[in-house]
Amino acid sequence: MSEIHNRLEKNLRRLAPWAERHHIEAYRLYERDLPDYPFLVDRYKDRFVVYDRSDERIDRDEKKRAHLPGLLDALVALFANGQLGEAFLRERVVIKRRERQKGESQYEKLGESGENFAIRESQARFWVNLEDYLDTGLFLDHRLMRQRVFETCQAGQKFLNLFSYTGSVSVFAALKGARTTSVDLSATYTRWAMDNFQLNDLNPKDHEFIQANALEFLADAQNSRRGEFDVIFLDPPTFSNSKRMQGTFDVERDQVPLVERTMTLLKPGGLLFFSNNKRGFRLSSVLTSQFQTKDIGAQTLPKDFRDPKLRVVYEFRHAR
Ligand SMILES: C[S@@+](CC[C@H](N)C(=O)[O-])C[C@H]1O[C@@H](n2cnc3c(N)ncnc32)[C@H](O)[C@@H]1O
Repeated sequence: MSEIHNRLEKNLRRLAPWAERHHIEAYRLYERDLPDYPFLVDRYKDRFVVYDRSDERIDRDEKKRAHLPGLLDALVALFANGQLGEAFLRERVVIKRRERQKGESQYEKLGESGENFAIRESQARFWVNLEDYLDTGLFLDHRLMRQRVFETCQAGQKFLNLFSYTGSVSVFAALKGARTTSVDLSATYTRWAMDNFQLNDLNPKDHEFIQANALEFLADAQNSRRGEFDVIFLDPPTFSNSKRMQGTFDVERDQVPLVERTMTLLKPGGLLFFSNNKRGFRLSSVLTSQFQTKDIGAQTLPKDFRDPKLRVVYEFRHAR
C-alpha cells in the first residue's frame, strides 16, 4: 500500500468512531499530513472535497501536483465499495483549486452540477453543496464554535450573528431557544440560512434575517439596538471589497471600530465571540485595554484540524 493510502486509512480509523459518537457527518480527513501530498480532504458523508493548494505558495513547480492522482487512487481504494474508480471519482469527489488564472474557472469540477444535500452535525442538520460555490455552506473549522454558542445561549436570549453566511451558528443558538438575528451581504446565503432553519424545524419567521452590509448595519444600530444582545458571533472575512460596498474591508486594519461598534450592541454581562481566518492576525491593544478578552483559539480547534494558525477566536466581555 502507498504511503498516502496508509495515512488516509490511519486518519479514518482515528476519526470515524469519534465522528459517529458525536453524530458528525462532515469532517476533515486529511490536512497536508505528508509533505509530498500538500492537499486537504474534507469528508461530507460519502462524498469528498479535495483542496489542491499545492500551487498556491512556495512550490510553483508541478512536482507536488503530480501526486494528486495518488491521493485520488487511495480515496477510491478506501471508499469506492466496488464502484468503478472513475465513476466514483466523478460522482463523489470534487477537486477545488484556488488558482486565479484568467479565463479559467476558480476550481475544477469533476462531476456534473452540484446537488444540495443535508448533513448532520450533532444536534443540527445543514444543507451543503460541494460544487457550485467556492465554499460548501458549512465551515468545518468552526464546528466547536457552534457547540460553544449552543452551550452559551439560553432560551429567550437574543443572539446576533454578523457575517452569518449560511446561518449555521444561528441555527445552534435557535435550537437552544434564543431569538436570532443574522446579517449577511449575500441574498443567496441569506436564503440558504432560512432553508437551514427550516431543515431544523425552526420557523424563519420567528427570527430575523437581514441582507445588508454588516458595517452599515452596525453603524445604523449604534443607538437603536444598543445593549440588545446577550451573545454575539462576529466572524468577518479577511478581506471584503464587494460591489455592494463602498471602500474595502480588512479585518486586521479595521478591527478596532468593528469590535467597538459590535460591543455597543452587547448587553452588560453579555459575551461576544470574535473570530477570523487571517494568518498572523494580531489583536489590537486598543481592544485588549478596553475590554476583557480571552484567546480561545486553541480550545475551539476541532480534533480533525491540525493547523492552529488557521484561525483566531477571542471572547470579549465588557470591562467590569
Ligand atoms: C468568513 S464568512 C463568515 C462565515 C460564517 N460566520 C460561518 O461560520 O459560517 C463570509 C461571509 O461574509 C459575507 N460578507 C462579506 N462581506 C460582507 C459585508 N460587508 N457585510 C455582510 N456580510 C459580508 C459573505 O457573504 C459570506 O457569507
